[in-house]
Amino acid sequence: MFITFEGIEGSGKSTQLRRLAARISDAVVTKEPGGTPLADRIRAILLDSSSHLDPVAELFLFAASRRQHVVEIIRPALKRGAAVLCDRFTDSTLAYQGFGRLIDLDKLRALNAWATESLTPDLTLLFDLPEEVGLSRARSRNAEAVHDEGRFEAEELRFHRRVREGYLALAVSEPARFAVINAEGDVDEVYARVEAELVRRKPEVLR
Ligand code: TYD
Repeated sequence: MFITFEGIEGSGKSTQLRRLAARISDAVVTKEPGGTPLADRIRAILLDSSSHLDPVAELFLFAASRRQHVVEIIRPALKRGAAVLCDRFTDSTLAYQGFGRLIDLDKLRALNAWATESLTPDLTLLFDLPEEVGLSRARSRNAEAVHDEGRFEAEELRFHRRVREGYLALAVSEPARFAVINAEGDVDEVYARVEAELVRRKPEVLR
C-alpha cells in the first residue's frame, strides 16, 4: 500500500503523516525531496535560498532525487509488503513545477513516469487550506526554527495560490485516488478527517 501526503506549505501534512503512521503496522515513513543519503544532498541544494536554480534544472533535481528514492526505498518496501507513507511525491511536481512554475504538464507526467517506472500511489491525501493560512503557519514555524525560510516559502502568494488550485484540479481529475482533506482546524480535528477517509477507502491498513 502506497499512500502519499500532499499540500501547500503549512498544510500540516507532515504532522498528520506521523499520527497516521502510529495507527498502521509495518509503516515505512519517508519524504521527498530526500529519503536517502544521496537524495538528502539533492534536497539541500533544492531548498537553499542561495541556489540560483533554473526552473528546468530544479525539475531535474527533483526527478533525480525521486528516482533514487523509488529505487532504494519505496519499491523495496512495497515489495516486502510494507505500507509506505510518503510526504510529497509526483503530484508535488505537477502542482509546483507545473501549476506553480508553468512547465508543461505532459512533459512533467512523462518525466514522473520515467523516474518512477509509473509507480502511482494507491491513495493520495491532499491537505487543503487557503494559501494565506498555510504560508503564515509555515513562516511562523520557520521564525521559531531560526533557519532559512527556503526557496519555496519565499515565493509570492500568487505562486502558492496556483499550486493550491493545481492540486485541487488534480484531485478533481482523479477522484478515486485523491481524498481532499480540509486542513483548517486543530491537529485533532484534521486527524479525525484523515482517519475517516482511511476507514472509508483503505480500512485494511489500519490496525
Ligand atoms: P519541505 O521543507 O519538505 O516542505 P514541506 O514541509 O512543505 O513539505 O520542502 C519541500 C519543498 O519542495 C516544498 O516547497 C515543495 C517543493 N517540491 C517541489 O517543488 N516539487 C517536488 O516535486 C517536490 C517533491 C517538492
